[in-house]
Amino acid sequence: MSDTAATLRRQMFGSAGLLALFAIVGGVLVAGTEALTRERIIEQQRASLRSTLTEVLPAERYTNALLDDTIRIRDPDLLGTDEPLTAYRARRGAEPVAVLFPVVAPDGYSGDIRLLVGIDTHGTLTGVRVLNHRETPGLGDAIETRRSDWIRQFAGLSLGEPPPRQWKVRKDGGQFDQFAGATITPRAVIKAVRQALVFFDTHRDTLLAPPVDTP
Ligand SMILES: Cc1cc2nc3c(=O)[nH]c(=O)nc-3n(C[C@H](O)[C@H](O)[C@H](O)COP(=O)(O)O)c2cc1C
Repeated sequence: MSDTAATLRRQMFGSAGLLALFAIVGGVLVAGTEALTRERIIEQQRASLRSTLTEVLPAERYTNALLDDTIRIRDPDLLGTDEPLTAYRARRGAEPVAVLFPVVAPDGYSGDIRLLVGIDTHGTLTGVRVLNHRETPGLGDAIETRRSDWIRQFAGLSLGEPPPRQWKVRKDGGQFDQFAGATITPRAVIKAVRQALVFFDTHRDTLLAPPVDTP
C-alpha cells in the first residue's frame, strides 16, 4: 500500500471514530435531558395535585401526609371510568377527617371531565374542583374556578342535602344553575358529584380505615 493510501485510510478511520464519539455523547446528552425533564414533569404534576387537594380540603384540617396515605379505588359505574384511581385520606392524628378522590364525568360536551372531590366523615362535600376537561371556552368552561364560582357551591352538600330530585340543573327541575347556552357540562358534573357521594356512602368503612402499616 502506498503512503498516500495509508494516510487516507487513517484519516477515514479517524473521522469515523470522531463521528461515533459525537453520536455517543449526543445520545447520552439527549437521554440525560429526557430523564431530567421527566422528573421535572412528575414534580410539577405532584405540585399541581397538592394545590388542588388543598383547594378541596384546606391543609389546616389535617395533620398527615395526604400524598402518602392512599388507597386504590375502582368502580366503573360510580366513578365514571374503568381505570383504578387513587384516593387520598386526610387524618388528624389517628382520626379520619375526609377522603379525597378523583371521579370522571364521562358525559361532558367534549368527553371526560375529571374532577377531584373531598368528602368528610359525615358524608358532606368539603369541595369539588376540575382536574381537567375539554369543554368549550366561554360555554362549558365555567366549571373552572378561574371562570366562575359555580363549582364552589358543592361544598357543604351531601346525599340528602339537597334531596335526590334536586340534584339537577334548574332546567331539569333541580337547584343548580346551568350556564348560558350550556346545560350539558353542568349536568355531567352534577351527576358525577352525586355518584361520588354514593360511592363514599357504599365504601365508607374501607375509605376511612386506618392506613395499612408497611414494614
Ligand atoms: C360549538 C359548540 C360548543 C358547545 N360547547 C358546549 C359546552 O362546552 N358545554 C355545554 O354544556 N354545551 C355546549 N354547547 C351547547 C350544547 O350543544 C347544548 O345546546 C346546550 O348545552 C343546551 O343543552 P340542552 O338543550 O340539553 O339543555 C355547545 C354548542 C356548540 C354549537
